[in-house]
Amino acid sequence: FDNGLALAPPMGWNDYNAYGLQVNEQVIRDAADRLVGSGLRDAGYVYVNIDDAWMAADRDANGNLQADPDRFPHGIRALADYVHARRLRLGIYEDAGVKTCAGLPGSLGHERQDARQFAAWGVDYLKYDSCYAGEGCGQTTCAPVREHYAAMRDALTATGRPIVFSICSWGADRVWAWGAGYGNLWRTTPDIAPTFASLLSVFHANVGLAGYARPGGWNDPDMLEVGNGMTETEDRAELSLWAAMAAPLIAGADLTTASQQTIADLANRDVIAVDQDPLGRPARLLSADGGLDVLVRPLTNGDVAVVLFNETDAAADVSTTVGHGRYTMRNLWEGTTAVTDGTVGAHLPAHGAAMFRLAKG
Ligand code: GLA
Repeated sequence: FDNGLALAPPMGWNDYNAYGLQVNEQVIRDAADRLVGSGLRDAGYVYVNIDDAWMAADRDANGNLQADPDRFPHGIRALADYVHARRLRLGIYEDAGVKTCAGLPGSLGHERQDARQFAAWGVDYLKYDSCYAGEGCGQTTCAPVREHYAAMRDALTATGRPIVFSICSWGADRVWAWGAGYGNLWRTTPDIAPTFASLLSVFHANVGLAGYARPGGWNDPDMLEVGNGMTETEDRAELSLWAAMAAPLIAGADLTTASQQTIADLANRDVIAVDQDPLGRPARLLSADGGLDVLVRPLTNGDVAVVLFNETDAAADVSTTVGHGRYTMRNLWEGTTAVTDGTVGAHLPAHGAAMFRLAKG
């Protein structure tokens, strides 16, 4: 799907991981303010995405979607203006079926009208879910329907407004095999949760799909749980792995209460540069010996990014060799630089990752 957007994985924030279905316009305005105040916007987190449950239970008399009047009393257009005034972009959520996952009106059969509505409001990003995929389907009993995604893709294109199109298909129907023809990113996994077990299962499901991603079309292993209850070691592991996999970096912490450490980890410029590398080739899992993983990602200027990851519950040493000769090696979490002959190693705590960038010479 060549709409010229998402040439690097999208970066931003979404309310769902922190607020579930309790979203309202103050939550979104606060997030926008915090993205600016914390420096995260300037680090690249520019999309402010409203997830499910923003809409009223019914369409209006003309069949238009409307924001829930209690939780979004000023409406979506005003929120878009608020976000745009802060040099951020607004994302919204809908569903390709008859209802959203929360049971609110879906876009099936209304694609043109809804896309026009989103464009008129000033929406810049659409997360398009797969619940209640058709009449007679339960919440998750039917696979996502490609034609429904094609209908919204074409409706968005017809608006003439640049809108990133995020396919939320939970990895069903091998979405990675067809997603690139339909959207800018596609969910490869079920919903993530703020636990190391969930992080691991999502990582395992996504890491082998590297060959399907390219600039403009990305594997989406779901939004970040950094700051939502895992240890800092685990938070940094998540960021390391997501950046290596060229995943979208959609922060999911409540930014009004996030710690300085959470903000600093999300804002790590070296890690972000790997995620956003213009070559757009996700890391391959070079080895995974007894839960000790080595990921290697080629970068556009000939550099190589390496993530060493300890999945196990005990500390361990992990090392690999990326080549021979003289390399300058930067440790992206420690912020230190050393010279190496191509050997990369680290002592990793349980659940820990180390991340390096090696440059020849
Ligand atoms: C699905 C999606 C989640 C979130 C919820 C909202 O579960 O996968 O990311 O959007 O719906 O209801």
